Amino acid sequence: MKTAITEMFGIQHPIIQGGMHYVGFAEMAAAVSNAGGLGIITGLTQGTPEKLANEIARCRDMTDKPFGVNLTILPTLTPPDYPGLVKAVIEGGVKVVETAGRNPVDLLPPLKDAGIKVIHKCTSVRHSLKAQDIGCDAVSVDGFECGGHPGEDDVPNFILLPRAADELEIPFVSSGGMADGRSLVASLAMGAQGMNMGTRFIATKEAPVHENVKQAILAASELDTRLVMRPLRNTERVLNNAAVERLILKEKELGDTITIQDILPEVAGVYPKIMTEGTMDAGAWSCGMVAGLIHDIPTCQELIDRIMLQAEEIIARMQAMARA
Ligand SMILES: Cc1cc2nc3c(=O)[nH]c(=O)nc-3n(C[C@H](O)[C@H](O)[C@H](O)COP(=O)(O)O)c2cc1C
Repeated sequence: MKTAITEMFGIQHPIIQGGMHYVGFAEMAAAVSNAGGLGIITGLTQGTPEKLANEIARCRDMTDKPFGVNLTILPTLTPPDYPGLVKAVIEGGVKVVETAGRNPVDLLPPLKDAGIKVIHKCTSVRHSLKAQDIGCDAVSVDGFECGGHPGEDDVPNFILLPRAADELEIPFVSSGGMADGRSLVASLAMGAQGMNMGTRFIATKEAPVHENVKQAILAASELDTRLVMRPLRNTERVLNNAAVERLILKEKELGDTITIQDILPEVAGVYPKIMTEGTMDAGAWSCGMVAGLIHDIPTCQELIDRIMLQAEEIIARMQAMARA
């Protein structure tokens, strides 16, 4: 399938694996890219420019296809070395960067000078337009359903995607709640040029996470995620567990007086314990409502081939309907 996104990123299928903390290692990105999508290494999981450079080199050893790096811009007091991470991306010969979080304007000049395509993840039309204005090449439009940070507007993709299509001139992909060929065709119908998946890619054979994480996604339904940190205006969609219930209780009890300090035990440094060690109640971890559509653990190749086949079948069925 050829779309503005496959052309822009030089990939076979319009499917992207979004950056995921402690999931987006070289193994994950290479598996998705080898299957014809765009795999993405998560820059902040590596943390330092040296480690990121090493991860990019490892990924290049595993694939000769294009892959990207996610740079999430967090509102922290002691920010990571973003200029150093950007340098590692450029020197590593990476051709696509997925930015997320705050406005990426400061990162753009060196990336653009190096000919790198930038896709910014946005949870609203207004942020998407801002990304377009500052010179991003594409946008990943992340609806309310998504795993991770859906923003504070709570607009689901059935509204958000056509709204984005009506306003944007640059290409965009859908993100949040995407799982299969139905998601892809629906995204294309609503004006997207491809789709981004997070949670679905965690439940694959190659995802370098503990088996408990994959089984937790399989066991979950679409009713099992919760929104946390809304009082801090840093809303995150996570899979419910004992730590999340504790966190929500603190939010109820402390109300507007809650600070990040109050919930550090539930959110700080929990990803390695969950993703690597498989201690599922160690804290809050991002997971999308799409868990309700995930029932197996295929390889990335099987998953992407299946999505493309189903999408083609649906399009053919629709063409037959339209002609009847
Ligand atoms: C476990 C997990 C960790 C994530 N970490 C990040 C991250 O570090 N940076 C980022 O931009 N997005 C992150 N995301 C969001 C994904 O890139 C993607 O936008 C989201 O998962 C899409 O929604 P879906 O899970 O419904 O497919 C994360 C998502 C998950 C599930």
